[in-house]
Amino acid sequence: MKAVVVTDQAEGAAGMRLMDRPEPRPAINDVLVEVHAAAYVPTEIDWPSTWADRAGRAKSPSILGHDLAGVVTALGYGTTGLTVGQRVFGISDWHRDGTLAEYVAVESRNLAPLPGDVDFTVGAALPISGLTAWQGLFQHGRLRSGQTVLAHGAAGAVGTMVTQLAREAGAYVIGTGRAADRQKALDFGAHEFVDLEHDDLADVGAVDLVFDVIGGSVQEQSARLVRPGGTLVTVTGLGDVHPVDGLSVDFVVESVPSQLTEIVQRVRDGRLRVNIDRVAPLDDAVAALNPTGRRAGKTVIAVRP
Ligand SMILES: NC(=O)c1ccc[n+]([C@@H]2O[C@H](COP(=O)([O-])OP(=O)(O)OC[C@H]3O[C@@H](n4cnc5c(N)ncnc54)[C@H](OP(=O)(O)O)[C@@H]3O)[C@@H](O)[C@H]2O)c1
Repeated sequence: MKAVVVTDQAEGAAGMRLMDRPEPRPAINDVLVEVHAAAYVPTEIDWPSTWADRAGRAKSPSILGHDLAGVVTALGYGTTGLTVGQRVFGISDWHRDGTLAEYVAVESRNLAPLPGDVDFTVGAALPISGLTAWQGLFQHGRLRSGQTVLAHGAAGAVGTMVTQLAREAGAYVIGTGRAADRQKALDFGAHEFVDLEHDDLADVGAVDLVFDVIGGSVQEQSARLVRPGGTLVTVTGLGDVHPVDGLSVDFVVESVPSQLTEIVQRVRDGRLRVNIDRVAPLDDAVAALNPTGRRAGKTVIAVRP
């Protein structure tokens, strides 16, 4: 089967190639999925799990991508909950071969049914960005109606989901990003926008929840804005500055089927819009995943257009 792989950590994204790889076999509790669409987080190249399996053994070539939408074609021994022929979407295990391939073996507990009226490309754009937003806002951030959320990178893949879900939950959303992101962040539902290149973040005042996807000095400045009892949630690792009288949480997104079902239902009834920058076929994946300009949302690879 064809797959997008990396083989040399030192080469980084420059080493990305389309290659022939053996079709995976479903292990105990796995399903084999015929991938119809897949997506990727650009920082994956730097994740230790791209280069080693769970036992720490070096993994090369390593198939990239963890977002997927496709159809179950086989079950591993003992697998329950899903059936052959079922449409599914979710996140594959970070430590195993990824989803930018014609087939992937995934534990069934990481997948949810994808409703028949949702395109595979939409299904593949949702899991990582949607679940990261959901878990950061509602599990780790304990967001309540009426609170104020500072949503960094509000025009990005995660940020557009954070903005929409927070707003739907009754929060006041202050989006941030680069100057060029203002209109997009507002279009996705931010009540106001802070241009991190020209505005002073301190002028935002106190907020209940910071959702950080940038880290560094942006995270440090934001920690100072958290109200007593509030939370700073990040997905980029915690720095040295923490809210004085609040929580700071760094987390890695998990594939939770019940949450995927909540998220996709919002797409079906128009409450949630996906932020797809471009859709490209598998044969063009390497170029599409390494654009020359800025990314403006998810790049989805239509493995079976
Ligand atoms: N731990 C987890 O579970 C988890 C899950 C999902 C994502 N992540 C991480 O979260 C981060 C964001 O992911 P994403 O998919 O949302 O990426 P994305 O689509 O590129 O969105 C990030 C947005 O933030 C903007 N931005 C970044 N640095 C900025 C700065 N200094 N000033 C102003 N704007 C800035 C980006 O603009 P530019 O493109 O111009 O930089 C982009 O619009 C990545 O580092 C990713 O690895 C972690």
